[in-house]
Amino acid sequence: MPASSPESLTPSPGPLHVALIMDGNGRWAERRGLPRAMGHREGVQALKRTVQAAPELGIRCLTVFGFSTENWQRPAEEVSDLMGLVRSYVASDLKRLEREGVRVRVLGRRTGLPSDIAAIIERAEATTAHNDKFLLQVAFNYGGRADIIDAAQRYVDLVLAGEAAGPLNEQTLASGLSTAGGPPVDVIVRTSGEQRLSNFLLWEAAYAELVYQNVLWPDYGPAALADVVQQYQNRDRRFGGRPAPGVSPAPALAAG
Ligand code: IPE
Ligand code: IPE
Ligand code: MG
Repeated sequence: MPASSPESLTPSPGPLHVALIMDGNGRWAERRGLPRAMGHREGVQALKRTVQAAPELGIRCLTVFGFSTENWQRPAEEVSDLMGLVRSYVASDLKRLEREGVRVRVLGRRTGLPSDIAAIIERAEATTAHNDKFLLQVAFNYGGRADIIDAAQRYVDLVLAGEAAGPLNEQTLASGLSTAGGPPVDVIVRTSGEQRLSNFLLWEAAYAELVYQNVLWPDYGPAALADVVQQYQNRDRRFGGRPAPGVSPAPALAAG
């Protein structure tokens, strides 16, 4: 493309916030005749590569789905392997994340988690709370429906305590979600070829772009993430409106 072409003068902005459904660990392992735990372990390496690559692609926030409220239905041994990975990920990577300016935030319910995992999560959040270069949100024991229910319950509790009144609106409900205060989700990516949300970021998905990639999560890395950025740049976000050609409107804040 010549340097003076309109496209090169006004490049489409890339996504600031990418949410990833990291799927396909089990199939990656099964295809190699390995136990599923090996797929999950390789998945952690893919997560490290992806987090490291994101800032160079202009991304400021990654939200990754690590464990869903439905994943408790898996065999106890697999659940225990997945809990173990939180221990090893934080033990091996927290120092680097802290040094590199990454703030870690964990989305989802703390109740029901083994107490040492809850403590590790709190330590990771506290140690990196001052960082503001990059936000890594890890959805763990997270379900989109549970998160909406919890937000609604928070509002009910405020009303019962006499600290809130009036009908619930979108802004108030969103302020009770575990993603409150974070940037809006620009794109939700699912790996492994499956095309569903599986209870991830249901509220936040309202106007997110959706990208499905055929790569199994343990094979994920900078090239696949760069492909997401490129696909996103070719999308036309309308938020229900009719933008003038070449203009992308900001999402409207719902009226209270
Ligand atoms: C994603 O990989 C990791 C979690 C859900 C925790 P899977 O374990 O779902 O892998 P597949 O989908 O069975 O291949
Ligand atoms: C979604 O993947 C949850 C995570 C990636 C943590 P699943 O593998 O659990 O979803 P389904 O069962 O295929 O819908
Ligand atoms: Mg899966």
